[in-house]
Amino acid sequence: MNKTILVTGGAGYIGSHTVVELIQADYKVVVVDNLYNSSIGAIQAISGIVGQKVIFYEADCADKKILHKIMTKHSPDAVIHFAGYKAVAESVVKPLLYYRNNLDSTISLLEVMREHNCTQLVFSSSATVYLDAKEVKYNEATTKTNRPFSPYGTTKLVQEYILEDTVHGEQFDNLSGLQVVSLRYFNPIGAHSSGDLGEDPNGIPNNLAPYITQVAVGRLEQLQIFGDNYNTPDGTCLRDYIHVVDLAKGHLSGLEYLFKQSGKFFDAINLGTGKPASVFDVLHSFVKAVGRKIPYKVVSRRDGDLPEFYADPSKAEAVLSFVTKLDLDKMTADSWNWQSKHPNGFN
Ligand code: NAD
Ligand code: UFG
Repeated sequence: MNKTILVTGGAGYIGSHTVVELIQADYKVVVVDNLYNSSIGAIQAISGIVGQKVIFYEADCADKKILHKIMTKHSPDAVIHFAGYKAVAESVVKPLLYYRNNLDSTISLLEVMREHNCTQLVFSSSATVYLDAKEVKYNEATTKTNRPFSPYGTTKLVQEYILEDTVHGEQFDNLSGLQVVSLRYFNPIGAHSSGDLGEDPNGIPNNLAPYITQVAVGRLEQLQIFGDNYNTPDGTCLRDYIHVVDLAKGHLSGLEYLFKQSGKFFDAINLGTGKPASVFDVLHSFVKAVGRKIPYKVVSRRDGDLPEFYADPSKAEAVLSFVTKLDLDKMTADSWNWQSKHPNGFN
């Protein structure tokens, strides 16, 4: 019998692409999303792509009563938990909003999973959990505590701690134990190849790719490049951009890995390409995709940006047999295809 997967945050950018892949791989999918940062248009777009109605509940996954009803009705075999707030800068201004939503949703979800004998979870984590304390003699002022740059980043690290502690605790022991795979994403960009599903951020985008496509489509005037004087080959920051469809497929590999586990199990795995690209690399690739110049100016560095980070993807290959297939030009071509077909996103 086909397994049923509950997908929280399944109307969002990464969740919606994952729902398409799950349905196309014959999983039965139930989506729960409160549409805080997404729209019903994404659910309609998924239905159009897969040619069937998507089971969707507009609900908050911190609402245990509703979650309980949904789990009673559908008895999911596993959960993929995307739901959460993700805007780094907003989290600095509204930390309580981020701690409340991101932590509450995960704790409530775990409690309801336990009630329903559902013991397998794939979690959306982030490269932001990596820290770089190098010294051994600890100093209060100079040694970094175990703390990411933003409240958002802290919620991701704390959610990993909550999950790992719950795996090792005894509250799931009457069942088979809890099994969790935490997937640490690098920088997802791109869109579904149909051009009907893509990233549709609320307000002015914070991230590079949607900012560029909104400039290219005429919604924004020009890209601001945050610093070209880093110690990198072209002076701009290096990141590991991963096609959202590759990333979505990584979740199916994550699920298959989870299904092989029993007892108490926690594992954290990077999902990235391992190939760093600079801001100029991304911009030049978009220029090729769009076929004309994209206006930009170099401005000062953005607070909190690290010059360079990218994934070591070897664990994903070893344990998930997962390797990315789509390159930067495909990512930018698909982002542009989506944005040019839908200049105003899902609206
Ligand atoms: P997104 O905002 O597009 O999707 C998240 C979805 O969760 C949205 O549809 C939102 O409405 C929903 N949601 C939020 N809180 C909810 C709640 N309490 N109950 C129900 N639904 C809720 O973001 P995304 O880019 O698709 O990211 C998905 C996950 O991956 C997030 O947890 C995010 O932190 C993580 N992540 C994203 C990135 C990235 O660059 N996009 C990188 C690393 C990790
Ligand atoms: N950038 C610009 N101009 C823009 C936007 C971004 O020059 O308008 C640059 C940034 O300075 C950075 C690069 O483009 O060098 C990528 O920036 P993004 O904002 O797209 O992505 P980040 O690497 O800053 O952040 C991403 C996710 C976060 C996550 C972090 C670490 O958005 O959620 O990776 O995993 F915390």
